[in-house]
Amino acid sequence: MSTVVVYESMFGNTREIAEAVARGLGAHGTVEVHEVGEVGTLPADLDLLVVGGPTHAFSMSKPTTRADARTKPHEGEIVSTGIGLREWIESLPAPDHRVAVATFDTRVRHPRLPGSAAKAAGKALKAHGYRMIADPETFDVHGMTGPLFPGETDRAAAWGERLASVAHA
Ligand SMILES: Cc1cc2nc3c(=O)[nH]c(=O)nc-3n(C[C@H](O)[C@H](O)[C@H](O)COP(=O)(O)O)c2cc1C
Repeated sequence: MSTVVVYESMFGNTREIAEAVARGLGAHGTVEVHEVGEVGTLPADLDLLVVGGPTHAFSMSKPTTRADARTKPHEGEIVSTGIGLREWIESLPAPDHRVAVATFDTRVRHPRLPGSAAKAAGKALKAHGYRMIADPETFDVHGMTGPLFPGETDRAAAWGERLASVAHA
């Protein structure tokens, strides 16, 4: 099975989740993990696409919300310095064969706000002809810059493992 995980991340939390999801998927075939600005052409034999990003302003990020994120005090470098998931999905050609898709986001747990990048990305990917095989999933961060809640990377790895078995079935 061929799987690609694409992530967008400002402060590194979504990247950490994406890497954990890839570990979970890894037991089942080949898995590539790419930051959204560096994806390139998807493999011709792609079976499963997993896409994740931070929820910004109740949905996928926009140039304005990413610019806002860059102004927040945080440790380390900003991870995604170019396009976000929204722009990448818009530019994605429709698949020429059945490709399963699953989406995730990171969001603040307290206070829990409405809206989810995973839901918005799932809707956009479905409109492009991808087949959703799981409900959009959320992983929780403490506040705007994180860190992740304890246990979220283990939950992400388990989610990846489940996705692989559903896509493989
Ligand atoms: C401009 C901006 C808007 C945000 N809007 C929301 C929001 O609507 N709901 C939410 O739960 N979190 C919101 N957040 C928090 C992000 O979800 C959080 O920064 C992200 O999960 C961290 O992941 P990252 O380190 O991969 O960027 C926002 C963050 C930024 C910078």
